[in-house]
Amino acid sequence: MNEGLIIGNRIVRLESCPSTNDYLKSFVAEPKNKLEGLVVVTNDQTKGRGQQGTTWTSEPGMNLCFSIYLEPKLELSRQFCLSQMISLGLVDFLNELGLDEVKIKWPNDIYVGTRKIAGILVENTVQAGKIASSVVGIGLNVNQLNFDASLPNPTSIALESGKTVVDLRHLLSSLLGRIGARYLSLKLSNKLDGLDAEYTELLFQKDVPCNYLVNGELISGVITGVDSSGRLCLHHNSKEDFFDLKEIKFQ
Ligand code: BTN
Repeated sequence: MNEGLIIGNRIVRLESCPSTNDYLKSFVAEPKNKLEGLVVVTNDQTKGRGQQGTTWTSEPGMNLCFSIYLEPKLELSRQFCLSQMISLGLVDFLNELGLDEVKIKWPNDIYVGTRKIAGILVENTVQAGKIASSVVGIGLNVNQLNFDASLPNPTSIALESGKTVVDLRHLLSSLLGRIGARYLSLKLSNKLDGLDAEYTELLFQKDVPCNYLVNGELISGVITGVDSSGRLCLHHNSKEDFFDLKEIKFQ
């Protein structure tokens, strides 16, 4: 346990790089750089990666694109807790900025209303049934006002608040503080009571009848929560069904 752990105690700042997740992975491959809480941030990410093989694009100098190195030592069966904690840290931070209607679109996209403001890519290494290390990549749209037309419904802090953020360094440090506080509670107490309830309450489209694509079939259902392994729970046809990421698509 590391009670003095502060995420972002050491920050590697790069003018440009293909992907901060990839850079961080190679960086910590060198034993002397394996420092829990280390952050890599870039002004211009040229080949950003998203979940499920997608890409993440970000206008140079406008947004936050960064990755955090963590050693959560969580049981594999509880790996979803890490993703939940990171999402909750982002929600805490955006609420603190004064944004309303901040939601988590399962499993870990951050929305403001019906628009995506941030994405999270967690890549774990497993040893002896535990998550030995995680690279948590976060893309947060900050000052970008125009997005590629192919992106479904993006937004940014500037679009939501009507204000440009002048100091991206300060913004990053506040966000790391919020994520760090959540992470420490996971790491030190290992007490996860209440985590699912808090996460579930913030789920996008929770309790709202909506359409979902399941195995190529359009169904109407209501999100009611997640199970301990992070599967989405959907109530439809008078019963509850659980889905993993590949099995269900939001419409
Ligand atoms: C998603 O919404 O699909 C996840 C997007 C994650 C993007 C971030 S930006 C920093 C880090 N480096 C990457 O290549 N991806 C993540």
